[in-house]
Amino acid sequence: MNKHTRKLAFLTGASSGIGQALAPQLAARGYDLVLAARRVDSLEQVKRDIAARFAQCGVEVLALDVTRYADVQSAIAETARSHGGLDLVIANAGVGSTGPVGSGRFAEDLAVIETNVIGAMATIDAAVSLFRAQNRGQIAVISSVAAFRGLPGAASYSASKAAIAVYADAARVELHGTPVRVTTLFPGYIDTPINQDMKSRPFLIGVEDGARIIADLIERGVQTSTVPVYPWNLVGRLVRVLPTGILARAAKGSMPSGASEKG
Ligand SMILES: NC(=O)c1ccc[n+]([C@@H]2O[C@H](COP(=O)([O-])OP(=O)(O)OC[C@H]3O[C@@H](n4cnc5c(N)ncnc54)[C@H](OP(=O)(O)O)[C@@H]3O)[C@@H](O)[C@H]2O)c1
Repeated sequence: MNKHTRKLAFLTGASSGIGQALAPQLAARGYDLVLAARRVDSLEQVKRDIAARFAQCGVEVLALDVTRYADVQSAIAETARSHGGLDLVIANAGVGSTGPVGSGRFAEDLAVIETNVIGAMATIDAAVSLFRAQNRGQIAVISSVAAFRGLPGAASYSASKAAIAVYADAARVELHGTPVRVTTLFPGYIDTPINQDMKSRPFLIGVEDGARIIADLIERGVQTSTVPVYPWNLVGRLVRVLPTGILARAAKGSMPSGASEKG
């Protein structure tokens, strides 16, 4: 990788969906990439696609399970050590949940929290530690509009996305006045495998559009934003104050039994 002219980004969840589409968006914006996920074959494919389109972009793939928290921390530190620094860390890896509270899916809920909350915390914690030492850097956290309200059928997912957004918010306040930026994004429904079984996906956008908007927002260094900005900036506010009965009726119409509502 040419560390003198290009920046370096560390992206979790790069083997599929948003992460897979975000990688070439970052390459086009002058980043070399470290692509992390559990499925290395898929990461290698993403790497080949980028090599074919962006000859100047350096790409490394890294087998990483974000629920192996110590591995996450050492991977970020080691990447920075071997490349002379790191510019951007994106906590994107995540999983969905698939059923109502009390329906015998507690083990799945636990995996949601371990991945989306603790795995992302391990990523953010390592990035903040590094960026404080470097006195520069940007952290981007992929939350969800599901963070705005506990969505029926996706309790653990909503809770996980709210938790990581609040965690990132605290980090942003702690880093105020330093050159380190924290960007928290709240995507609505983007067409990826995480939601492709769902019956209702309001305001759905394609993954290429979603990744381009996310890359633009990261590049602008915004503190927080929905994705796309409109209509979710308005819908997000509305969802927060909707009476329980209206939310329950809306959910009944849109949820197949046992399926989730996650965005
Ligand atoms: N699509 C949407 O509508 C939407 C909306 C709001 C927020 N989001 C969030 O966007 C992020 C990306 O989701 P997506 O829509 O792109 O879904 P996706 O296509 O299912 O991708 C999820 C990614 O997370 C990785 N991942 C899951 N568990 C992991 C673990 N334990 N360790 C490392 N990587 C792990 C997966 O890689 P491996 O399986 O190879 O490890 C995969 O690359 C998630 O945080 C999701 O909650 C999505």
